[in-house]
Amino acid sequence: MDTNPLSTRSQPVVAPLTKAAIFLVITLKPGATNDASVRKLCADLSALLRAVGFRDLTGQLSCVMAFGSEAWDRLFGTPRPKELHPFREIRGVHHAVSTPGDILFHIRSASRMDLCFEFSALIMSRLGDAVASADEVHGFSYFDDRDLIGFVDGTENPVADAAISATLIGEEDLDFAGGSYVIVQKYLHDLPRWNRVPIAEQEGIVGRSKLSDIELDDSVKPSYAHNALTTIIEDGEQVEILRDNMPFGNSAKGEFGTYFIGYARSPRTIEQMLENMFVGRPPGNYDRLLDFSRTVTGSLFFVPSATFLDAVLPVQAPRSDATKSGDSPTLHDGRCGSHKPDGSLGIGSLKNGSQHE
Ligand code: HEM
Repeated sequence: MDTNPLSTRSQPVVAPLTKAAIFLVITLKPGATNDASVRKLCADLSALLRAVGFRDLTGQLSCVMAFGSEAWDRLFGTPRPKELHPFREIRGVHHAVSTPGDILFHIRSASRMDLCFEFSALIMSRLGDAVASADEVHGFSYFDDRDLIGFVDGTENPVADAAISATLIGEEDLDFAGGSYVIVQKYLHDLPRWNRVPIAEQEGIVGRSKLSDIELDDSVKPSYAHNALTTIIEDGEQVEILRDNMPFGNSAKGEFGTYFIGYARSPRTIEQMLENMFVGRPPGNYDRLLDFSRTVTGSLFFVPSATFLDAVLPVQAPRSDATKSGDSPTLHDGRCGSHKPDGSLGIGSLKNGSQHE
């Protein structure tokens, strides 16, 4: 536990893959009272999480709360995270849709869906009529962490320090150090058609062998392989993101899906991957997975630090002269800057970011 009250604690963005997750996307209804309900929940979130999580600590319940661009402006005003904007649809060979979403709750448990469900129900009862549900997906872990197209999903995720540096904002946006960006997309697969594709061809599309999950050698890997198009190299270094995709479905409706969720310290990285997948790198050399999977949602959110959420007041404090003149806002109006008084980033505690206090 962090003992320095002035340092910034992140939300539990960096967490191991789990057995259960709920992805809850909601929209905020107009009106100051509704804003106040959400702001109140921000400050209460960590206590609610402790209360539900304590019912079974081995379940490792966690929740990340994130905000869309318009909701941010409404709820918190300025300063705003430098790279926060609405999700931009992509019309390439395939279409990545952009759909409404003001707030995302990414609720995870190592083993228990009941903990996730209890927590999402509690959040929704707190928010009541202030919000409307845009989408709710209950994800489950499927044999050997495979997605429903049968491939192991998550293998090349960065871990430990690499995961922290891939996801958490540092000195590039000091006011929001310890925060992160997250993009979610709900994909539906045409599984009957996918299952008719010969395994060797499927392996070329994904870029890994299906049974053993070994990456294909560059000499045989197609340039359109999913893991080739989602590899981003800048200045000779790979720029990574952290994914926690989950399968979901409804067998009676013939619905088989992957809920994509990607965290990054800059949304540009994920947007570049999407561009490569949907338009192609070079254009036309697109991701063949998309011939079998279509997106039905797409939204971008900013994940403020836990320190920021804890400090949100139910009613937005009037802008002080200091704030108007561009100085860092105070801790108490929920728009806390993340500088420590000594001018350092104060993110020494981020290594414990996967543990919600
Ligand atoms: C239908 C949706 C998707 C499915 C079923 C899927 C599945 C997979 C699978 C099976 C792998 C290989 C194993 C691994 O390293 O995790 C993989 C890798 C990867 N995927 Fe996806 N993915 C999907 C969408 C996306 C999207 C939308 C992005 C980013 C915008 C993305 C980014 C990546 C990255 C960065 C890798 C690792 C590449 C590497 O370094 O080898 N995926 N994905």
